[in-house]
Amino acid sequence: MTVAQLDAEISRHKAAADSWKARRHLLDTADLTKPEVECVLSLASACLDVHAEGAAPLAVLQNCAVANLFYENSTRTRSSFELAARKLGASVLNLDIGSSSVSKGESILDTAETLLSMGARAVVQRHRSSGSAHLLAGAIGDRIHVINAGDGWHAHPTQALLDLLSMRQVAGNLQGRKLCIVGDITHSRVARSNLWLARLMGMDVHIAGPPTLMPAALSSLGVTVHNRLEPAIEQADFVMVLRLQLERQKSGLIPSLAEYQRLYRMDHQRLNLCQPGVKVMHPGPINRGVEITDELAADNAYSLVGTQVRNGIAVRMAVLQLLLAGARE
Ligand code: CP
Repeated sequence: MTVAQLDAEISRHKAAADSWKARRHLLDTADLTKPEVECVLSLASACLDVHAEGAAPLAVLQNCAVANLFYENSTRTRSSFELAARKLGASVLNLDIGSSSVSKGESILDTAETLLSMGARAVVQRHRSSGSAHLLAGAIGDRIHVINAGDGWHAHPTQALLDLLSMRQVAGNLQGRKLCIVGDITHSRVARSNLWLARLMGMDVHIAGPPTLMPAALSSLGVTVHNRLEPAIEQADFVMVLRLQLERQKSGLIPSLAEYQRLYRMDHQRLNLCQPGVKVMHPGPINRGVEITDELAADNAYSLVGTQVRNGIAVRMAVLQLLLAGARE
């Protein structure tokens, strides 16, 4: 794969690529159009080859510095943004938040402004506050690209895009395919970002979880809400299992882990209710044995977990290229 081949892929989706460039930021999935999503998935598929070849970085963003600002812990998202940026020839600045001036009370705006002054062209930000990426984009977004790497319960757009790519690789056209998202929907930015994209692609979306972990009014988005797992996963093509945030038990939202496991844990036996060929996804990190059995998470006949992680690098390469396209001109 060469820079010219990646450019040709972008040219095939010229109108959508232009709207990515005009967009400047990736904050959410709710306002992405279908052509924009097709464009990023198509470019990500091409980027998979760049990654698989293990080749030298491509001279796509060689004049760019990308700053990773992770105010919350991360393994997958942070590492894959770093790999993605380096594969495109960008330099990467990983700010160690714990030892930065954030501990002296520096605001997210001042931190980003400082990195901008040092030449950063894009900020990849994860923060516990919902809306923090929008805040940054609203304040300094005319001078820097903002990519939301997860903000509170609100959105995790690149996770949803990589999940969509993983499902597309299995099923091709996703129109009418049944996706069931299981677990703590209320506190899940992954669920929210996936709901928008899955509906945009015409999927039949179901969610299942304890009533205390289910937000009100989701059915108005065209999603079918279940409190019992079995009808939710019946004939499902894809089951997306969410991490149970263990602190929910301490806050009284689930009676006990044993009860949660009994009612909602995905295992091989429950897969019998789904479509033959069903695939199971998990954004990670996994609480093995809590929301999914160890055996199922490790069973590559069903589990897409490793695929999701690999696709994360390619999707983030595609997003960086599309948003920072102006940086090469
Ligand atoms: N899926 C995900 O966001 O994982 P990390 O928290 O490890 O980045």
